[in-house]
Amino acid sequence: MTYIANSKRYLKLNYRRCGHSGLLLPPITLGLWHNFGGKKNMSSESKKMLFRAFDRGITHFDLANNYGPPYGSAESNFGKIMKSDLKKYRDELIISTKAGYDMWPGPYGEWGSKKYLIASLDQSLKRMKLDYVDIFYSHRFDPLTPLEETADALAQSIRSGKALYVGISSYSSKQTIKMNKLLNERGIRCLIHQPSYSMINRWVEKDLLSTLRKLGIGCIAFSPLAQGMLSDKYLKIIPKNSRISDNSSLDKKMITKSYIYKINELTKIAKKRNQTLPQMAISWVLRHKNMTSALIGARTVMQLDECLDSQNNITFSSKEIKEINKYAKEENINLWARSSNN
Ligand SMILES: NC(=O)c1ccc[n+]([C@@H]2O[C@H](COP(=O)([O-])OP(=O)(O)OC[C@H]3O[C@@H](n4cnc5c(N)ncnc54)[C@H](OP(=O)(O)O)[C@@H]3O)[C@@H](O)[C@H]2O)c1
Repeated sequence: MTYIANSKRYLKLNYRRCGHSGLLLPPITLGLWHNFGGKKNMSSESKKMLFRAFDRGITHFDLANNYGPPYGSAESNFGKIMKSDLKKYRDELIISTKAGYDMWPGPYGEWGSKKYLIASLDQSLKRMKLDYVDIFYSHRFDPLTPLEETADALAQSIRSGKALYVGISSYSSKQTIKMNKLLNERGIRCLIHQPSYSMINRWVEKDLLSTLRKLGIGCIAFSPLAQGMLSDKYLKIIPKNSRISDNSSLDKKMITKSYIYKINELTKIAKKRNQTLPQMAISWVLRHKNMTSALIGARTVMQLDECLDSQNNITFSSKEIKEINKYAKEENINLWARSSNN
């Protein structure tokens, strides 16, 4: 049966303006990094998550060339759904993709050259069966390619009509300022920055958030649940169905004593707010006025629903913030620090 979207989907969420642009984004975005790949099709649960998200007003889906596994399969699987069930909703959707990490063999399959970015965007469009993406990102800062060349590639993606907006991900404040200037010189706006940010990974607070505010660039924080670590799932055992068991981007070495202490204390605070820890973690990221969206992942519809229900309580008293600050401290979990340390 063809999917028909819930007619009440736009009644609940407060959409947020992306920097100084005309684009509104939902406060929560669903990312397809994990759980949407697979050689033939995405799982039926993942397909349900896409529909559930849209039914609840999530208009933004975030992808990248190499999401899978195998690389490209999240885009291909998503493309099948774009061609069928979601086709009639294309103008209601913001679809993003990125290029920067390893995608194909040889010298033109990663980093920030024009050769790579342009070829990768063409491939992404084919896989997703789209004429254009809404946002195209430089996925990481490339210290060896002149930033002018990466800016040229992003500008070309807009001029060629293959992207409506462009963004950058995991760039430091310094490189963000440079890239913004280069894009402006090319008559292009840098729409959005996509950094990692959560209660136990707070690097953006040093200077990136204030830079983005000053430049009028939106911010979409990825991994606000620290890949699932901001939940109670790892307190006693490593559950079978979890990212650590999948042995992918999380390592059981990250489950330290100091981590467990923090999670127990943060859970108590969340309970007092009538929230679960994942819900409080999402609301907390969104407490910044210039935070456009929290970019989450999910394994099941149940998890997704729980995350979306965070929107029932998004305000914090100064007392709560103070209390949270006692425990919301760095754990060594920022896998993307190399890019943003430049
Ligand atoms: N730009 C970049 O370099 C970059 C890097 C990483 C991610 N991203 C983007 O950000 C998106 C989100 O990243 P992420 O998946 O790491 O985000 P996340 O929201 O921090 O983690 C998602 C994981 O948390 C767990 N989870 C979700 N809801 C839960 C709940 N209610 N209760 C308990 N656990 C819950 C699930 O893990 P289990 O599977 O263990 O249940 C889920 O897979 C990606 O899909 C991608 O679009 C971008």
